[in-house]
Amino acid sequence: MAITGPLIDRFGRVHTNLRVSVTDRCNIRCFYCMPAANVRFLPRSEILSFEEITRFVQVCAALGITKVRLTGGEPLVRADLPRLVRMLAAIPGIQDLAMTTNGLLLAEHAEALREAGLHRLNISLDALHEETFQRIARRSGLDKVLQGIDAACRAGFRRIRLNAVAIRGVTEPEIIPLAEFARQRRLELRFIEYMPLDADRKWQPDQVLSGEEIRAVLEQHFGPLVPVPREDPSQPAVDYSYRDGSGVVGFINPVTQPFCHECNRLRITAEGQVRNCLFSTVEWDARRLLREGASDEQIAQLVRDCIAAKMPGHGIDKPDFVRPVRAMFEIGG
Ligand code: 5AD
Ligand code: SF4
Repeated sequence: MAITGPLIDRFGRVHTNLRVSVTDRCNIRCFYCMPAANVRFLPRSEILSFEEITRFVQVCAALGITKVRLTGGEPLVRADLPRLVRMLAAIPGIQDLAMTTNGLLLAEHAEALREAGLHRLNISLDALHEETFQRIARRSGLDKVLQGIDAACRAGFRRIRLNAVAIRGVTEPEIIPLAEFARQRRLELRFIEYMPLDADRKWQPDQVLSGEEIRAVLEQHFGPLVPVPREDPSQPAVDYSYRDGSGVVGFINPVTQPFCHECNRLRITAEGQVRNCLFSTVEWDARRLLREGASDEQIAQLVRDCIAAKMPGHGIDKPDFVRPVRAMFEIGG
């Protein structure tokens, strides 16, 4: 039987975007994601192989997925990642292949990733002061990240973006330096609101430094920001350009301005569990199908079932909100 898409849910959202976590491991310990110590990582045998990931993405491509993003954990701690990039870049229908990385290992791998066919990179950069970096990451390494950014710029990616998670009481002094840094290098910068996905379960609503607050800080310094029309209505960020035309700054406001009504994302965790939302409390076990010799159609049906069950939104602001059991590093950013 031919596999048919597209993946439309009960609310009319057409899913074209897949986020693939390749590992739950990471070389730093950001407090908004991972526990400080005693992290229980998945055993190697539970993690999907590159061949299993590729088969899953092939089925998704037949269902209308056109964009794939590799996440983690930190994707670059997985050995031989350019090999996976090459396998995914060869899948017909995948038009956009991107990766989110913390940048620590990027200086070593940027060139190989670009050559393997990776189009775009998002590099996490929350702070430009080593002290703030360490307060967040609970490890050192800002200098490595900056070297990684430089290497990525030289490697010639289609687009490089910097992602900064904003946390009240921690990252306020970083706002202007990050904006200056991105403007000088002509990189896009996006501020992301802190979501309740930290492994320590310490998230509090008052720690959310909202996109609107950050915009006000930027406007005080740089003058009024000019809204940029959206290229893609499902993009979560609201982008602005500086008045002098030098650069774009965006805001991803999942907490204060949920964009779930436009969400077109599907996710698969490192151990092959398919999720329809970061905050979903249910998962669909693709690994079992992949390892038990299921047909492509059976895998496609699992993906359709997952999309059919998608809720209208995350409900962080609702009194009956229930956090997922998994933290960010176990889901994939
Ligand atoms: N809230 C918001 N963003 C987060 N990220 C990780 N955990 C959180 C959280 N709790 C971001 C990372 C990275 C991407 C993978 O997700 O900083 O940019
Ligand atoms: Fe999509 Fe869930 Fe994020 Fe909302 S919270 S945008 S539904 S992944």
